[in-house]
Amino acid sequence: MKIAVLTGGGDCPGLNAVIRAVVRRGEQHGLEVMGIREGWRGLLDPPLHDRLTREATSGILHLGGTILGTSRTNPFKKPANGPEMVLKNLKALNVGAVVAIGGEDTLGVATKFSSMGINMVGVPKTIDNDLSGTDLTFGFDTAVGIATEAIDRLHSTAEAHKRVIVCEVMGRHAGWIATHAGMAGGADVILIPERPIDIEKVCEHIRNRHRTQGKNFSIVVVAEGAKFAQKESTVNEKLDEFGHVRLGGIGQQIADMIEQRTGYETRVTVLGHIQRGGTPTAFDRVLATRFGVHAADMVARGEFGKMAALRGTQIVSVALQEATAQLKTVDPTLYAVAEVFFG
Ligand code: F6P
Repeated sequence: MKIAVLTGGGDCPGLNAVIRAVVRRGEQHGLEVMGIREGWRGLLDPPLHDRLTREATSGILHLGGTILGTSRTNPFKKPANGPEMVLKNLKALNVGAVVAIGGEDTLGVATKFSSMGINMVGVPKTIDNDLSGTDLTFGFDTAVGIATEAIDRLHSTAEAHKRVIVCEVMGRHAGWIATHAGMAGGADVILIPERPIDIEKVCEHIRNRHRTQGKNFSIVVVAEGAKFAQKESTVNEKLDEFGHVRLGGIGQQIADMIEQRTGYETRVTVLGHIQRGGTPTAFDRVLATRFGVHAADMVARGEFGKMAALRGTQIVSVALQEATAQLKTVDPTLYAVAEVFFG
């Protein structure tokens, strides 16, 4: 059977490890693997594809990005006949099954094609770690490592200059990166989308630290999707094809407010795409490899309409709908542990 592999949505460290694993395991099952370029865009007209072999995917395990390229194209949005085009091209290319590697948007599209009769297997990906159905997504560990190192570095300069430094990390709907990196890096306040920001409380934590604990610097970690209890924090209203606002700017807003209210000199660092680029950690390479092997096994077994997922220490198959059914937000008991160290 010929199968197609695609990577959609924001890139994520570990995508190449999945592709390599699908090809290597796929070849063992006698599957011919075709790489679709630029996510769902590559199945519209004209289709963009390459044959993927063991040779073509050699030496990519440790590389960030994706050799297939990616896009946020939503074929159910544009063009009007997008779904028909995809179905027509899959037929013309003689593709028997599709392995879609992506987050909520890519897997949402995969779920729709699955219900239209396409043999679909999903692999969950996002540095945000906010997909339900799997305990972890690959890329998250890498992003947390990068953010933690940044927070460590911000500590020494904040202390040297007696400043408050606000570090803005990724996390559109959920504050997993902020919570983990903030805890690992010893942040004094962590702000996440799950908890509306009470700026007075944040300032009180900082004042308390500076006045009663002999500290003259503080580190605040904020997830880009965090919002104020009272007012909308989004400053950039550009939307992508899945209707997502391009985020960024909350860190600066928080920094301005802290400086104004406390009088402490405050600076901001926005980590942005640094968290998503570059080489995956060993943990992410292993998780991505296990997902890829499992996905190829699912195709070989004819187990479609499902995605590979981590449950405890095991890789299992769960219904594709489960990935997008609900958002996996930060566990309140984990955040409660982080809060022990605020202020
Ligand atoms: O979904 C993953 C993510 O990294 C989000 O945390 C972030 O909001 C978004 O992608 C950024 O996407 P883009 O690279 O398209 O700006």
